[in-house]
Amino acid sequence: MSKYHCLGIESTAHTFGAAVVSSDGTILSNEREMHQTTSGGMIPMEVAKHHERVKEEVVKRALEKADVKMADIHLISVASSPGLLPALRVGVRYAKQLANENGKKLIGINHCVAHLTIGDLITGLKDPVYIYVSGVNTQVIAYSNGYLRVLGETLDVGLGNALDKFGRDVGLGFPAGPKIEQLAKNGKYVGLTYSVKGMDVSFSGIVTQASRLAEKGISNEDICYSLQETCFAMLCEVAERALAHTDKKSCILIGGVGANKRLCEMMDKMCKGRGATFAAAPLQYAGDQAAMIAWQGILEFNAGREDDQSLDSDPRLRVDEVKVTW
Ligand code: ATP
Ligand code: FE2
Repeated sequence: MSKYHCLGIESTAHTFGAAVVSSDGTILSNEREMHQTTSGGMIPMEVAKHHERVKEEVVKRALEKADVKMADIHLISVASSPGLLPALRVGVRYAKQLANENGKKLIGINHCVAHLTIGDLITGLKDPVYIYVSGVNTQVIAYSNGYLRVLGETLDVGLGNALDKFGRDVGLGFPAGPKIEQLAKNGKYVGLTYSVKGMDVSFSGIVTQASRLAEKGISNEDICYSLQETCFAMLCEVAERALAHTDKKSCILIGGVGANKRLCEMMDKMCKGRGATFAAAPLQYAGDQAAMIAWQGILEFNAGREDDQSLDSDPRLRVDEVKVTW
């Protein structure tokens, strides 16, 4: 097939995004508007209202920045799973409307899968172990036999949310991750319980422990340092075991927590020790955005998939339930 342009639309959570990506993997634009709250909490109907308000403007901006017209778009790709249902529906309805009005091909794809495959595109690594660490998610994922398998994950909260919870307890503000990273630079180790269970990790107990230490007067610097060292070492252990089991040769860190330099340093060291390559997805592609939705749409469309106006939102579909066809 000759080269074509795909318009991607993202609306699964706090971000409404639109992007234009060409079928050779060139990202021509990647626009977004985020529904901001001071606590980080989200009321689904409020998020949906935000997305309704900004959707036309964000799509218009994405087309303008890419210097293309709607007529130049061949395929519209939308994140149709998983996410907050009212928010998801805004994107899916709008994508269907645009496809219908302008006679475009339509495809609905899984947001979590897109987080992974944009990592491949940007880093150039093939068939890696993915360490996906965002606010909500903490998962170690790798492809095997037709599916992206979740080899290990958090048994309670995602690491980002765990760090934010500690931040809330001691008054660091939201999001707390970057603040914790700064404070940790001047800290020394105080004991926290390391919690790996098989290939899974657990963070909520550690956060409770950390908040108790703060109440006892241990400095935020020391607690932040210990929190990072403990939680990141847990992730490295599970990631290393995933590399060993799957015999894969590379590892990609994805998600907002991947912005943390200390986590990158520890992962890099672990990978080097095994002769594997490490890369962290650059920040603008680590969080929620629509370039990843467009790219995953291109991958699946090229593999022969296509949706029609019956496309529906699915708030739950997990990354390991999507058959890899691309
Ligand atoms: P998703 O819905 O995809 O899970 P999300 O909004 O939950 O997305 P991201 O935007 O990927 O998550 O990441 C946000 C999280 O990353 C926050 O919890 C924040 O505290 C954390 N974070 C950001 N920067 C850093 C950092 N430098 N160190 C540690 N954590 C960080
Ligand atoms: Fe996401």
